[in-house]
Amino acid sequence: MTIECTPLGNRIGAVVRGVSLKDVPDGETLDTLETLLEEWGALVFPDQEITPAEQVAFSRPFGPLEETARIDARLEGQPEIFVVGNTGKRIVSFAPADGSDDLEWHADHMHLKVPARASMLYCKETPSVGGETVFACMYSAYDALSPEEQAQAESLTALHSVSGLQKYLKTKGEKGAAEGEYASPQQLTVRWPLVRTHPLTGRKALYVGSKVTIGIEGWDEDRARAYLDDLLARATVPEFRYSHPWKPGDAVLWDNRRVLHAGTPFDGSLYRREMHRTTIREDQPIL
Ligand SMILES: [Fe+2]
Repeated sequence: MTIECTPLGNRIGAVVRGVSLKDVPDGETLDTLETLLEEWGALVFPDQEITPAEQVAFSRPFGPLEETARIDARLEGQPEIFVVGNTGKRIVSFAPADGSDDLEWHADHMHLKVPARASMLYCKETPSVGGETVFACMYSAYDALSPEEQAQAESLTALHSVSGLQKYLKTKGEKGAAEGEYASPQQLTVRWPLVRTHPLTGRKALYVGSKVTIGIEGWDEDRARAYLDDLLARATVPEFRYSHPWKPGDAVLWDNRRVLHAGTPFDGSLYRREMHRTTIREDQPIL
C-alpha cells in the first residue's frame, strides 16, 4: 500500500494514510514515518482499529517504550499503555476543569530524568464537545524570537517538576489527577536547556512547559514566572498550533523534541474520554 501524507495546513501536523497500525512497521515503512515525523512533528493516522497489544507492537520499533510510571493509570495486562481520561478507576486529565483556556502545555516526561522522545495517543472514546489535543511547533516559537531573545533563551536552564503540575491542578479544582500511585519517586526537579537542538534536524526548539516548568536556574521565582508566561504565550500563538478534534480510531504520533501539547477542557459529567498512550523514551542527550 502506498503511504500518502496530507499536511493539515499549519506549521505542524499531517494526515498519513496507507499505514495500518495493526502491522509492525517494516524497515522501509519505519524510515518513511520517521522522515514524515521530522517534517511535520505530529502525524495523524485516522480510522485505525487496533488492540492495546497492536498499539504497543506498532510503537516499539520507534524506540524503547516506557512502562508508565503511574501504576494506577496503566492498562491492565499492558503496562506500556497509559490510560488518559475519565473512564478508569481514577480520572487522568491535564485539562483545566474550569473550562478556561489556561492550558497545561508540556512535552511528555519533561520533568523526568529520561523524557519522552515521541508519544502516540490512540482514541477509544471522545467527547463530542471539547477534549481536543492542541500541538504547538517549538521551532516556530524559537524562530519568532529576536536574535537578542534567542541568545538570552539559549543561555538559560529551565527547572521542571511535577509539583508545578500538581499545584496547577489543585487551583483548578482537580483532585488526584497528578497524585496517583507511582513506580518511582516523582518529586524531583530536573534541569534542561531552555533551547534544545533537535538531534536529527539540527534545528533549535524551545523546551518549556506552562505548569510543569517551575523556574529558571539562578532567577527568583517572580522573575522566572513572568518570563516563562510571556515566552509560552508567544510560543503557542494560533499560527504555530494544530488542534486535533479526535474521533474514535484516530491515532496521533508526535515528536516531543519539537512539539508541545495540551488537552482542552470538556464536561466530564456529560462525556467520557478514553485515550491510550504509548511513550517512546528519549535516547539522545538534551543539548
Ligand atoms: Fe502529555
